Amino acid sequence: MISDEVKKLTYDFLVNLLGSENVLIDDYNREIYSKDNTEDLKFFPDFIIKPVNSKEISEVLKFANKFKIPVTPRGGGTGLSGGALPCDGGIVISFERMNRIIEIDEKNFQVVVEPGVITEVLQKECESRNLFYPVDPASSGSCFIGGNVAECAGGPRAVKYGVTKDYVLSLEVVLPDGEIITTGSRTLKNVVGYNLTQLFVGSEGTLGIITKIILKLIPLPKIRKALLVAFNNPRDCIASVAEFFRENINPSALEFLEKDAIKAAEAHIDKKFPNSDAEAQLLIELDGDNEESLYKQMEKISEISERFGAIDIVLADDKNKVDELWTLRKSIGEAVKAISVYKEEDTVVPRFHLPDLLTGTKEISKKYNIRTICYGHAGDGNLHINILKDKMSDEEWNNSINNAIEEIFQLAVSLGGTISGEHGIGFTQKRFLNIALSETQIELMKSIKKLFDPNNILNPNKIFL
Ligand code: LAC
Ligand code: ZN
Repeated sequence: MISDEVKKLTYDFLVNLLGSENVLIDDYNREIYSKDNTEDLKFFPDFIIKPVNSKEISEVLKFANKFKIPVTPRGGGTGLSGGALPCDGGIVISFERMNRIIEIDEKNFQVVVEPGVITEVLQKECESRNLFYPVDPASSGSCFIGGNVAECAGGPRAVKYGVTKDYVLSLEVVLPDGEIITTGSRTLKNVVGYNLTQLFVGSEGTLGIITKIILKLIPLPKIRKALLVAFNNPRDCIASVAEFFRENINPSALEFLEKDAIKAAEAHIDKKFPNSDAEAQLLIELDGDNEESLYKQMEKISEISERFGAIDIVLADDKNKVDELWTLRKSIGEAVKAISVYKEEDTVVPRFHLPDLLTGTKEISKKYNIRTICYGHAGDGNLHINILKDKMSDEEWNNSINNAIEEIFQLAVSLGGTISGEHGIGFTQKRFLNIALSETQIELMKSIKKLFDPNNILNPNKIFL
């Protein structure tokens, strides 16, 4: 916590630099910026600032570094591991005003953006030029591209197109001492020294503040179709996933949805899902430029699904129907959150081991008498496991929740997987870091943190205990 004297000094400094309209200290705003989308956690910042360029951020960091004031960068506030929570108070940097698409370089398939651009806005701008930025987190309508880079966001299309890191070519970053650097280059290849660009991607705002991003784009596929495949046995449903790839299917998304996830979404947005009484479903999207080849893949998908006991297949043949399915799918996270106090876990395993992850998770749920709702990017082996408190007493919940999570994570690691595929470690998962990483690895990472941020001002209390 910072002293009243430093607080006063800081306020005067910030107002002088940014203007009073861009420095918020009132309780109403402090409450809004005290939370992101992570559970019901709240940590109040002392100041929320809305800078407009890297020079301003550089000045802020120089000041904060001198007085050792915590600084937490914040995108759209849609994170699920508490990355944007100002756990130690101090300054929250909100990127709302740094929301320009600076350049779309159609000749080189690249885009230069500020961190505050909403991901969906970027996607649409690209699509209107027949270009594709495929990374599509469930929160695409409100998350910021800067947050996507800081967390290395994934989402459903990662199975075919990769995650955020696969598109980041270059970053402008303000270091904790205020120095501004540019990493990488506007080239598709670059092996000049260590890959600092990728070190910043997924570093959750702990090493530097990202102020400009150059992303790679690809050509926009012309056609999209989706299949919804219903099963009565969740294990068989998820076991079919690896088989699709063995049979050369190349889906642009392959999502697993447990019945409870579908029901939650239906209730939340008041829309019906086909076959919503089935125990589990796969949402499979195919894209490309050749309709015939998509239909061939669909035939194969239905063959394989039947072998694994599918009870029905529904085709979404046009853009509107496909979009409708995605609206439902993308609402699941919010829908589950609305049911009860809950914990969101982001396990990932090599996809052939998904059935064991699912079955094992259900056994752990039974042992601790907790309800789990599982869904997510099965094509990537990435299963979101939401653990619900429902009517459990606080005491029971507090006694069992961390042990249950630990067992689930240990299971994921024993299957060759790890404890987060796309949500990051942030604040909520740091106590479990040593399940996935050795002491040596954690020490190496801490040394990197210290090298970049010796005064530990950038997003403190994240990743490491
Ligand atoms: C999703 C978020 C929770 O896949 O990652 O819906
Ligand atoms: Zn997800």
